[in-house]
Amino acid sequence: MSNSALEFKDMSFGYPYENDLFMELNVAVQPGEFVSIIGASGSGKSTLFKLTVGLEEPTRGSIRLDGEKKANRLGHVGYMPQQDLLLPWRSILDNAALPLEIKGVSKKEAHKRIIPLLDEFGLNGTRDKFPSELSGGMRQRVSFLRTVLSGSPILLLDEPFSALDAITKVSMQEWLLQQWEKQGSTIIFITHDVDEALFLADRVFVLTETPIKELKEVTVPLNRPRRLEDLYSADLLEVKKDLMFELRSTIT
Ligand SMILES: Nc1ncnc2c1ncn2[C@@H]1O[C@H](COP(=O)(O)OP(=O)(O)O)[C@@H](O)[C@H]1O
Ligand SMILES: [Mg+2]
Repeated sequence: MSNSALEFKDMSFGYPYENDLFMELNVAVQPGEFVSIIGASGSGKSTLFKLTVGLEEPTRGSIRLDGEKKANRLGHVGYMPQQDLLLPWRSILDNAALPLEIKGVSKKEAHKRIIPLLDEFGLNGTRDKFPSELSGGMRQRVSFLRTVLSGSPILLLDEPFSALDAITKVSMQEWLLQQWEKQGSTIIFITHDVDEALFLADRVFVLTETPIKELKEVTVPLNRPRRLEDLYSADLLEVKKDLMFELRSTIT
C-alpha cells in the first residue's frame, strides 16, 4: 500500500497559555483524495493547516507527508492561507509568477503560462495592477491561481472562495475539480460552506468538540464528475441535514 499523502499521528497541540485544541488526533488523507474540512469559526481549521505546513509544531505526536517526517513541510505543499499574502510591490502578474520563479522558471516563461489563465480566472485587465487596486474577491483569485501554479502534488486551501459571489464561486469550484481530475493531486479544502464541502469532496471532516480527539467523517454519496444538480439529490440532502445538525451541536 502506498503512503498516506498526509498523516497526523497521536498529534496534540494547543497555543501557549491556551487549552489544547487537538488531543492525540489521528487522521490520514490518501494520495489523490479530495477532502473538505468544515467546522464553526474558531474550531481550529486554520490551525490544522498551520501545523501541516510547520508554521506551528505539535506539542506531542507527529505529522507525516508522504509517509515521512519532513523538516521543511511548507516546501512540499501548495498552501493558500486564509489571509492572502500577495506582495504589495509586485504586479498581479508578478505575484502569480512567484511560485514558478522560486522553482527556477524564468520570468518570461512564467508570464507565458499565466497570461492565458488570467482570463479563465476572471482576472482580465489586472495583470499590471497592484494588489491594493483589487477587490478582496479578486485578490483571492490571484492567491488561488498562485497556489495552484505551484504544481504541488498536495494542495491545502484555506477558505479559498469565501470572498467570491455565488456564481463566480461555482465556476471556480468546477475549475478546481477539473484540475484535480486532470492532475491527480491531493486536495484538502477548508470551508464553512456545507454545500461547497459536499460538492467538492470525497470525504468531509467535521471539527466538533474541543479539544478535538477525532474528526467526525462523512463520505459524500455522489459519483464523479460532479454536477451542480447533484446537490439536490435525496441522498445528499440527507447527508447535508446530518452535517448541519452536527455543526449546530458544536455551537454552545
Ligand atoms: N496565534 C494564536 N495564538 C493563540 N490563539 C490562537 C492563535 N491563532 C488562533 N488561535 C485560537 O485558536 C482557535 C482556533 O483558531 P483557528 O484555527 O484560526 O480557527 P478556524 O480557522 O476554525 O476559524 C481560536 O480560538 C483562535 O482564537
Ligand atoms: Mg480559519
